[in-house]
Formats: sequence, structure tokens, C-alpha cells
Amino acid sequence: MDLQRLKARAAEIAEKEGKELLSRTTASEKLFQRALKTLPNGVVSNFQAGDPYPIYLEHGKGSTVTDVDGTVYRDFHGGFGVNVVGHAHPKIVEAIKKAADDAIHFAVTTEVTVALAEEICERFQCDQMRFVNSGTEATMDAIRVARAATGRDRIIKMEGSYHGHHDSVLFSVVPEADVLDLRHSVDQTGKPWYTTQPTSKGVPNALWDTTIITPFNDAAAVEAAFVDNPGEIAAVILEPVMMNIGIVVPHDGYLQALKDICEKHGAVLIFDEVKCGGTIAYGGAAERYGVVPHLAAWAKAIGGGATTGAFGGDESIMEFVTKGAAQQGTFNGNPLSSAVGLAALTQILTRDAYDHLGKLGTMLAEGCDRAIAESGIPAHTVDLGAKGCVSYRTEPLTNYRDFLETVPDLYWASYPWMVNRGIFMTPGDEEQWTISVQHTEEDIQTYLEAFGEFCQELAK
Ligand SMILES: Cc1ncc(COP(=O)(O)O)c(C=O)c1O
Repeated sequence: MDLQRLKARAAEIAEKEGKELLSRTTASEKLFQRALKTLPNGVVSNFQAGDPYPIYLEHGKGSTVTDVDGTVYRDFHGGFGVNVVGHAHPKIVEAIKKAADDAIHFAVTTEVTVALAEEICERFQCDQMRFVNSGTEATMDAIRVARAATGRDRIIKMEGSYHGHHDSVLFSVVPEADVLDLRHSVDQTGKPWYTTQPTSKGVPNALWDTTIITPFNDAAAVEAAFVDNPGEIAAVILEPVMMNIGIVVPHDGYLQALKDICEKHGAVLIFDEVKCGGTIAYGGAAERYGVVPHLAAWAKAIGGGATTGAFGGDESIMEFVTKGAAQQGTFNGNPLSSAVGLAALTQILTRDAYDHLGKLGTMLAEGCDRAIAESGIPAHTVDLGAKGCVSYRTEPLTNYRDFLETVPDLYWASYPWMVNRGIFMTPGDEEQWTISVQHTEEDIQTYLEAFGEFCQELAK
């Protein structure tokens, strides 16, 4: 298929559907104008910004969300991977009501928080854990504890990966092709020199040297970095399945190889399971891929929609929170979040729930694959339980550099097309769909009809 012609067609669709989307979302535009006065970009997180404005929601029920214009959508955005329980699930509503009656906050540990800690340790195969309030805090604290346990400063992270917005990990998040650089060269003393670009202004220069970047699915590059920096690397942090460039699955043996390399060099392997923890299997990536890391970070789906995060792992490392590594927080494990998280994990996201999510996910991915094959557009799907995506490149991705070869124009045509047909999508091709336990085959069918028509329209 001629790529230039396809891009031109995508641009036509994006323009026509984009105009229609704007004409249907006038209340969102009005709220945007109001929000702009008090909120930069009119939103509360840079990831929520829209072009020219985002769609503002006001209501969620089951598998649907309703925007401020009153349009009802089937929700495949899933609150960036949080809403695996769906919206207003009766068990969640009950847990919130009970917490409101009992107590929302003490800043004192409660029994329900201990019960949630037990559930998380059992489910994700770790000895001990601590609560935090977000994925950012979870990876930040995991890295601090790894540094404390090893007495080392440097960390390795993967090229093009996101672990939240604390300084140490804001390197090589979405590097442009011309600033990609890993092991750069050797310095005057002959020592290999690693470089990368911070992804945010305001990250202290002093940290540049502490974060080493290697490509995903390349254990040899990690080994080489350890050899180049003997006794200096505290931890390797990665998403066991990369989920901020569509989805990139780990090659066979890659995760175990990283664990072996970390153990050989006295470092800590940290899985960032913020996205995959409550979505791709009952026990997250550790269960799905059979590799239990030394430390892991969780957030999003494990809270059932409440604000929560956690990190944990081997007792021999976690004990450093009692030996000088700062780990605290006024709202950590508050009774409200704990009650909601406990209801989500023990009453809703049971093993049976993952069978349901897996069935729907496969139905969705297979249906998208059929539409892609029939239309001949360059794309493929990834199917991982509650998570999955269409990536606009024929071959699966191995790492971030492959993501740069996808065709974002096709995604940006699909976005308004799908939203105009009642499918609420994440605004960006780096994201993926999230299915909830309240989704039905009918929801999937509606998605597939809209996507099938999109592929045909694109290929015309
Ligand atoms: C893999 C990963 N880690 C960490 C984070 C940060 O989580 P939060 O937004 O809760 O701070 C995210 C957020 O999208 C994420 O996708």
C-alpha cells in the first residue's frame, strides 16, 4: 500500500472527522475556556491536554462515560488503565459509602490497609510492601530503596519508557529520533560515556549522569552498561511489558536475563507494573511471564479507581525503609483508598474476572486484526487481557526505535473517527485500550464495527 497516499487519506479523514468532533463538543469547549483561566492548558495533568481542547467528562456508569455535552461513549480509555472495575461498580460504591461512614482519613494505619497489603503481597509474590499515592511515587520510592540497599546512585532505564514524573526517570521518555543516543563514545580517560536527553525542563543537570539508557529487549546492552560502570549501578527499572509506546512485549528469556544480570552485579531489578499490574493477569507481569523481580511498583488498576500506589518486594531490600531510606506520606494507605482497593482486588478482580477480560480482549484484538487484514493497512494488534492496542506498523515492535517507525497519522485519523462513533479513546498513539469487567461483547462489537469501517475508509 502506498504510504504517501495512505497518509494523505488519513489527513482527509482527520480533518473531516475532527471538524465534526468539534461541532459536537461545544460544552467541552466552553468548559475549556473557563478552565484555562485557572489551570494551565485547562487540565490537571499534561497528559490530559487535547488539541484544540480535551473532551471533558461528567459521568461514568458500567462500561460507559458521558461527556459534558451529554454524549454517551463506550469507554476504552479506562482512565489511562485505572478503570478495570468499570464505573460505579456496586461493590466499589458500597466500599466508598462504608468508608465515608467509618473514616476517610486518620494518618494512622488501619486494619483494612493491612488486609490490602496482605492481598498485594500474596497476589504479586512479594514479601513486604508500602503504600504511596501514585505510580510516580511508587517508582520514586522503589528507586530510592534500591539506592539505599546498594549504596549506589546510578540506574538503568529503557529508551522511550515512562515511569512517572520524578526527576530520576525523566530521561529518554519520548526522545526524538535525532537525539536518540545510548553508549555515546568514550571520554578522555577512555571510559564509555552515556548520554540522553531529559524529557522535561527543570530536571537538575546533576542527575544527567545518574540515568543510563538501554534499549528494551536487549539484555546484552544492560550487561555492557554494568561492565562499563562497575559497582555503580543500583537498579534496572523497566516496565516488563512496555506500555507507553503502544505495547511492546518482552522477548522470551529477556526478563529472566535481566534478573540474572542484576544478581550477578549486586543490583536490584525493579518492575514498573503501574500499568500492567492489575490488567494483564491476576498476578500481573510477574505471573504472566514467570519472573518475580526484586522490587515492583504498582498503581492505577490496583486501587479500583481510588488514589493509590504501592511498591514492594524482597524483605532484604524493603527493610531499608526502616534503615534510613525515607518512605512516608500523609495519605499513604488511607482508609478510603484501602477500602476501595481491597474491594477491587478481593471482590471484583478475581481470577474469574481475568478470564472474562481475556476473552473480551482477544475478541477485540482478533476483530481488529481481521479489519486490518481485509483493508491491507500497515498495522498490527497486541492482545494482553484487559490491555491491548492497534499499532500502525505491520510488524510487532521490539523497542522504542520501532515505535518511531509507526505511522501516527493513521492513529490521528482513527481518534476522531472512533470518538464520533461513540468509542472513547485515549488521545495519543502511545496509549492502549483498557477493558473493564463491566464491558460486554456488545461493547466490543460496537468498537469493531467502527474500527472496521475506519480501515475500509482509509484504504479507499
Ligand atoms: C508505566 C508507568 N509508570 C508510572 C506512571 C506514573 O503513574 P502516575 O500517573 O500515577 O503518577 C505511569 C503513568 O502513566 C506509567 O504508565
